[in-house]
Amino acid sequence: MTLDDLPAVMEIDRVSFALPWPERSFRFELTGNDASRLLVAEMLLGDQERIVGYLGYWLLVDEMHISTLAVLPEMRGRGISERLLEAGLEQAWIQGAEMSTLEVRPSNKAAIALYRKYGFELVGRRRAYYQDNNEDALLMTLTGLSGWRRLGGGGGE
Ligand SMILES: CC(C)(COP(=O)(O)OP(=O)(O)OC[C@H]1O[C@@H](n2cnc3c(N)ncnc32)[C@H](O)[C@@H]1OP(=O)(O)O)[C@@H](O)C(=O)NCCC(=O)NCCS
Repeated sequence: MTLDDLPAVMEIDRVSFALPWPERSFRFELTGNDASRLLVAEMLLGDQERIVGYLGYWLLVDEMHISTLAVLPEMRGRGISERLLEAGLEQAWIQGAEMSTLEVRPSNKAAIALYRKYGFELVGRRRAYYQDNNEDALLMTLTGLSGWRRLGGGGGE
């Protein structure tokens, strides 16, 4: 992701989340946070390359903490989030991550199913984590990223 991508990314963010990130948050993640990595998924639609999804994570020593993930609503259900997650896990592993963590709303069945498919396990709950409706956050963790990769994730070896 680059600063030029922000209009497209923020549009996806706005329609995907109850609490979208303000532009300054994306700018900070791109230019002011050394631990932050942001990827976009692009597709050729007609004769135009279009941003159809993005993934953000923080690389904290040996931990990849997923900060955001969203796909354009009309492009969901086509494996785009899987491509983003696989690219992120692969990249984070190369950068030294051994595990991946994230927070997700218990009501977000699609995201929970995605993370479970990739081996993330439920490890805890943060009470009243989300400010819009006081919903809890589920904490999910994927350990052994190198093992995940050996098993064929991220394109294998
Ligand atoms: C969650 C989200 C990123 C999934 O993106 P996507 O590109 O549509 O997902 P994919 O097509 O790659 O699907 C991958 C897997 O996710 C799960 N999944 C995706 N959509 C699902 C749905 N509507 N219901 C149940 N499971 C779903 C399935 O396990 C699926 O694998 P399968 O096709 O073998 O069943 C997308 O729905 C989204 O942007 N939601 C709004 C933002 C959000 O909630 N982000 C996550 C924050 S933690």
